[in-house]
Amino acid sequence: MTEESDFNLETDSAGTQRVIIRQPDDWHVHLRDGEMLKAVADFTARQFSRAIVMPNLAAPVTTMDAATAYRERILAAVSSEHRFQPLMTCYLTDSISPDEVEQGFSSGIFTACKLYPANATTNSSHGVTDIKNIYPVLRAMERIKMPLLVHGEVTDSEIDIFDREAVFIDRILQHVVTDFPELKIVFEHITTADAVQFVDNAPDNIAATITPHHLEFSRNAMFEGGIRPHYYCLPVVKRETHRLALRKAATSGSSKFFLGTDSAPHVVETKETSCGCAGLFNAPFAMESYAKTFDEEGALDKLEAFASENGPRFYELPLNEKRIILEKSEVEVPEIISAENSGVVPFHAGRKLGWTFAGFHND
Ligand code: NCD
Ligand code: ZN
Repeated sequence: MTEESDFNLETDSAGTQRVIIRQPDDWHVHLRDGEMLKAVADFTARQFSRAIVMPNLAAPVTTMDAATAYRERILAAVSSEHRFQPLMTCYLTDSISPDEVEQGFSSGIFTACKLYPANATTNSSHGVTDIKNIYPVLRAMERIKMPLLVHGEVTDSEIDIFDREAVFIDRILQHVVTDFPELKIVFEHITTADAVQFVDNAPDNIAATITPHHLEFSRNAMFEGGIRPHYYCLPVVKRETHRLALRKAATSGSSKFFLGTDSAPHVVETKETSCGCAGLFNAPFAMESYAKTFDEEGALDKLEAFASENGPRFYELPLNEKRIILEKSEVEVPEIISAENSGVVPFHAGRKLGWTFAGFHND
């Protein structure tokens, strides 16, 4: 092995470049339930040590009991070869009690709360209709230092879908930050230069996650030669200038930005239809996708901070000890992955990626 630089990019005797980094965590994932959970859980557990699990099941996870039971189902779905820790979240509703949230956090059942504005996205009909309805909960969360994870889009149908994130900042988020100055907030799956700027200018208790797909394509990809439902997710991908701002933020080295795949599997029949579901299934090649972006940006030296350090530091959790190997070699992404007697089309389906997750490194 010859060290090529002072970080962790090496070239082996066959001339293959590899990057060794601390094992990453996924700070935003949809693992679903039932047969879908069984089909997808190992893809996340294969690469990530921990994951913040979204609570938007058909019956949302709003209680400690529901989260405990869901966590057990996740652990049962993960193969014993992986050591994986699901971190559970509580779905905020208009009527949720601050006590449930506080007890859930202090007992270690909930790691964070998730705010879905009502009807913003998949399974969000029980979400919050007016932010003021959860002010007592936010007050408790601020006091106990429990993170609030925000799906940052207004739901007003009058607002252009491409503007819903920027309008959310002005109408809601800015006020929450002012009213609860100490509250830890993760602005989830950000998609705009406006969000990057907001987070950059906010105090250290405000951070953001960025998905692999928002780093990789802009809204043109949804309409390239026809309508492409597998590129549709929420918040919807924006114009190129926004993608460039996200790439800059992710690779900047700023501790405010970290990895959250927002992997959101839907069976192919519910994507390729007249009213298709929102969500990309990117878990199977998540680290390969991020490595591609960081390599293209000449920022592989920033990947470890983004994927494996900034998240745990924000959540005040220990860094993972294990190291993973990412190798600059081709991997072929299948057209479809079996699930629920059908299949899910993964991100990059049928294409080749230039980076491969090559397992763990033993020092
Ligand atoms: C997510 C889903 O399907 O659960 N979909 C998506 O497009 N990201 C929900 C969400 O995070 O918005
Ligand atoms: Zn999501």
